[in-house]
Amino acid sequence: MNYHVLTLFPDMIRDCMNYSITGKAMEKGLLSLNCVNIRDYTRNKHQKVDDYIYGGGAGLLMQAEPVYLAYRALVSQMGITLPDTDGTKEEVYEAFAKKKKPRVVMMTPVGKLFTQKMAEDFSKEEDLIFLCGHYEGIDERVLEMIVTDPVCIGDYVLTGGELASMVVMDAVSRLVPGVLHNEESAQTESFSEDLLEFPQYSRPEVFMGEAVPPVLLSGHHANVEQWRREESLKRTKKYRPDLLEKASLTRKDELFLAQVEKNSPL
Ligand code: ADE
Repeated sequence: MNYHVLTLFPDMIRDCMNYSITGKAMEKGLLSLNCVNIRDYTRNKHQKVDDYIYGGGAGLLMQAEPVYLAYRALVSQMGITLPDTDGTKEEVYEAFAKKKKPRVVMMTPVGKLFTQKMAEDFSKEEDLIFLCGHYEGIDERVLEMIVTDPVCIGDYVLTGGELASMVVMDAVSRLVPGVLHNEESAQTESFSEDLLEFPQYSRPEVFMGEAVPPVLLSGHHANVEQWRREESLKRTKKYRPDLLEKASLTRKDELFLAQVEKNSPL
């Protein structure tokens, strides 16, 4: 997986991605990270990237030109030749008709809500370009030309798209084959079946007087599986009842949930 990030703060991305699992995966060559500083593509003396918003409104907007030029330089490395800013939108589309348009994930509160399913879809790409806005966002004209996937990580507003892009890259990276040592953990975790993950315990057996649930020490595989399933169902019902509507539940699951409801009515 090759990540490319168009940003005003490349160091922020590099520093964070170099840690832990993503850092190790980069060392192994399973992931690569190419950060492009949008400010390097300004054509004015003061390297200004933002300006006032037409029609009024608070704050500043990132201008179309440096974003387009940064993107143009990046895709030229992928063999796509785009016109300079004296060209037209039609010429840009013509260039994409000749060579596959790369996927551009625009981090924005005005986007589709990011999900595990989306992470799985992104993880199949060879190249992913992230576009991080700052200030009040980016001039719509360049977004129309280049963005394929506007993505929001949650119903709240951040100061910029950098943190959001790292959230998406992190979630996608752990689905890239070889990045996690234990492939099974990517399957049993929360959301993979529209259920939250069950609680887990490690040594010691007793911590501050609290013992690990005995079934987990029983060595009885089927009982452990049943306990985990029930704990997943209980947690999902408690914290994310919306997920239960989509989850594929067995008759046994439904009976269990009905029992939970009966024992602890709201
Ligand atoms: N930029 C600002 N807020 C955001 C959010 N919630 N998701 C993605 N990008 C953002």
